[in-house]
Amino acid sequence: MRPPALAFLLCCAGLFAGEADIVIADFEGQDYGAWKAEGEAFGSGPAHGTLPDQMQVSGFRGKGLVNSFHKGDGTTGTLTGPPFRIERPFINFLIGGGKHEGKTCMNLLVDGRIVRTATGPNDQPGGSEVLAWQSWDVKDLKGATATLQIVDQATGGWGHITVDQIEQSERKKESVPVERSIVVEKPYLHLPVKNGAPAIRMRYDLEGRWVREFAIEFATGEPDYWVFSDVSAYQGRTLRISAPLDGPEPLAAIRQADDVPGAATLYREKLRPQFHFSSRVGWLNDPNGLVFHQGEYHLFYQHNPYGCTWGNMHWGHAVSPDLVHWKELPIALYPPRWDDWVFSGSAVIDADDTAGFKRGDEDVMVVAYTSTGRGECIAYSRDRGRTFIEYEGNPVVRHRGRDPKLLWYAPGRHWVMAVYSEAEGKQWIAFHTSTDLKRWTFRSRIEGYYECPEIFELPIDGDKGRTRWIVHAADGAYSIGTFDGQVFTKESGKHTLSYGRGFYASQTYNHLPAADGRRIQIGWGQYDSPGMPFNQCMTFPAELTLRTTDEGLRLFANPAREISKLHARQHTQKDLTVQEGETPIPEATGELLDIRAEFAVGDAKRLGLIVHGSRLTYDAAKGEVEYRGCRGPLKPEGGRVSFRVLVDRTTTEIYANGGRLYMPVGGTHPDDRRGVCVFAAGGASKLLELEVNELKSAWEHRQ
Ligand code: FRU
Repeated sequence: MRPPALAFLLCCAGLFAGEADIVIADFEGQDYGAWKAEGEAFGSGPAHGTLPDQMQVSGFRGKGLVNSFHKGDGTTGTLTGPPFRIERPFINFLIGGGKHEGKTCMNLLVDGRIVRTATGPNDQPGGSEVLAWQSWDVKDLKGATATLQIVDQATGGWGHITVDQIEQSERKKESVPVERSIVVEKPYLHLPVKNGAPAIRMRYDLEGRWVREFAIEFATGEPDYWVFSDVSAYQGRTLRISAPLDGPEPLAAIRQADDVPGAATLYREKLRPQFHFSSRVGWLNDPNGLVFHQGEYHLFYQHNPYGCTWGNMHWGHAVSPDLVHWKELPIALYPPRWDDWVFSGSAVIDADDTAGFKRGDEDVMVVAYTSTGRGECIAYSRDRGRTFIEYEGNPVVRHRGRDPKLLWYAPGRHWVMAVYSEAEGKQWIAFHTSTDLKRWTFRSRIEGYYECPEIFELPIDGDKGRTRWIVHAADGAYSIGTFDGQVFTKESGKHTLSYGRGFYASQTYNHLPAADGRRIQIGWGQYDSPGMPFNQCMTFPAELTLRTTDEGLRLFANPAREISKLHARQHTQKDLTVQEGETPIPEATGELLDIRAEFAVGDAKRLGLIVHGSRLTYDAAKGEVEYRGCRGPLKPEGGRVSFRVLVDRTTTEIYANGGRLYMPVGGTHPDDRRGVCVFAAGGASKLLELEVNELKSAWEHRQ
């Protein structure tokens, strides 16, 4: 191991030099004081960290900073400081945000002339809202009267600037890396994280070659939790870890290990979903690359391995034999550069080897994803998704957009890519086609859809001879129509799929065997797990069907039947008259539940279930279901309403009237085991059938 003493000394050298720093501005006041704001971008005073819809801002000092993201990137303005005398050789400041010279910048003016200028680091999607030190050498300006001007004249992507802690100093303060070198002896590196610590940019070099770089709220004291890097590919080689820290000591906390952090208690954490997929450590969002191949359901997903907030987007990876028991595999796709993240996409099996990637017998899996630095890219795997090779001709589609969804259009024997695109305030799904997954031709577009497009075909009422196509974007609101492989023609929609909360960016499985024939969907459940070393989860796989209703064709969602693999003790009840008030079902206990209940409404005004203290109500007068503030329409069928409810530790999914209404809802009740009650109000109803299945944890069966 190389001693880090030199780097440390260099870093601290300034401590011994000359006179004290002069703080020009720290933006800790309620307003800007003597600084004058023009335009809207800077608001009326310093921001307290991150503004609405902004990625997490970090690296500033204290509570306040200049942040021109007020009302988003579209606003512009200038913030001008009072005159001051240049009295030290350096002006140091923290700066972040957009890299648009002259448009998102801080300028130093003397006699009305710009003599120095600096921008933030970002001009690509992805990037990071970390403020870092920059420094101007102003020796030649000593004694001059100067002013500072913070400018935001950009309105597009990264059209904002962040600034904090402007100081005059005897020494230059730049975010200089300290480093530590290790010989990799174990498969994992554990890194300490402190929630809310400045997110620093950490970098790994393997024998002089850049290999990884990421932002991390690195703990310089007691950590809140540990994250990890899989370094099994680097065994026996020397890895240099570098990061801009005030000294090298905190890097000593990074340790090598044989297993992932918290392995002994994994999946038993207080807020760990017990049958919804969540990542072992770190953040997840969109499901990506849902594909069935050789007996495995693949679930790739947007993943930040280094923290519990969005950022550092990788493709995490898990596989399951049955949609219930998941095994997390090593990360499938890493960002190839600091400013090139791997955003959402999809996967197909190229059974006919149209791309020519095949060697040997194994069918090739091809994934399409958004590279934030390049465009829509593809990569392929010859080993069932275990490792991927980037196609050397990337990107395959260049445009402003993201989230390519691939499918095989069998009648035309070609591939389709449905991909989100945007320009001039318009948003649409573009359809491209290809015969080899490499060369794509734009065919058509449908406006009014946002990110994460999805398109698939379904039989009507199970009749394979009559089908329609469904199109939706991230919010799940769908249109029904026809698709000829190039053009989608809408017949109805948009209709609402989820009446719940936090259901987003769902995708359905490609290549489920024809004998199975189901259309299985997984969405991102935007449910927080505060205080945990992981965050967010997936919704439980739902089977989607298209059925005729009195309102026309509609999607129905029901839990994948494999949930029954977790069934443990069952309690059933029939024909119970539910009088006004609450009737406990004392035998129905257990934290994790799969409940079916069918009621004859009778003369009750409201009826339903109370599960672990949360009330699921059917309101007859309103024709509506309500649960934890979510509402959705429901009409009795033949005087009956029915519920299917999956209850996990941090999520509940409700499917009513055979899947006509789908309502996934987050919320925690980890300590609440009050069990199940039925209730009626304003009259009596009848519980025709109740089946309560206690569920085992899906993680008990972990291989
Ligand atoms: C949707 C989304 C996608 C993008 C991904 C990035 O949640 O914003 O559009 O590809 O997340 O993580």
